[in-house]
Amino acid sequence: MPRISRRKFITRATAAGAGTCMCGLSGCATFSKVGKTPSIPADAYSFKNGKLTILLGKVAQLEKIGGSIKIIDSKLPEPLIIARIEEKEYTAVSIKCPHRGVEVEYKHDSKQFRCASLGSSTFATDGTYKKGFAKKSLTRFDAKLDPSDPNSLIISMT
Ligand code: FES
Repeated sequence: MPRISRRKFITRATAAGAGTCMCGLSGCATFSKVGKTPSIPADAYSFKNGKLTILLGKVAQLEKIGGSIKIIDSKLPEPLIIARIEEKEYTAVSIKCPHRGVEVEYKHDSKQFRCASLGSSTFATDGTYKKGFAKKSLTRFDAKLDPSDPNSLIISMT
């Protein structure tokens, strides 16, 4: 068996584990805490007076039912994941799993949010806790198409 240096071993082990989660006796942990949901383009949203406006024409991921996008911006009260769950229905919830803060991802085949960690807590589309280590629901934010502009999604974060 070829011998490798300690430094190479650590580098390879870290690379192999990046983006994954390990579950131990006390639950799951992760190195990156990041899921696979793409980030929204910076020019596709604005935030003012607790109201987040998404310009849907600039967010390709939300063009199709089942698509999702994340917004991580220190100006917002919480980082979010937004999913298009029906033709004219969107949902917006906090992206961090209540267990250990790993990002949740939207799974349209099962219509639920699922933690990206191996703990895999799951939540309904409105953020309600279903199963797993989390034991708590995700924070849900009201998300509606703007009645005066169907190309804008308004999310209330107050
Ligand atoms: S961080 Fe452990 S289940 Fe989500």
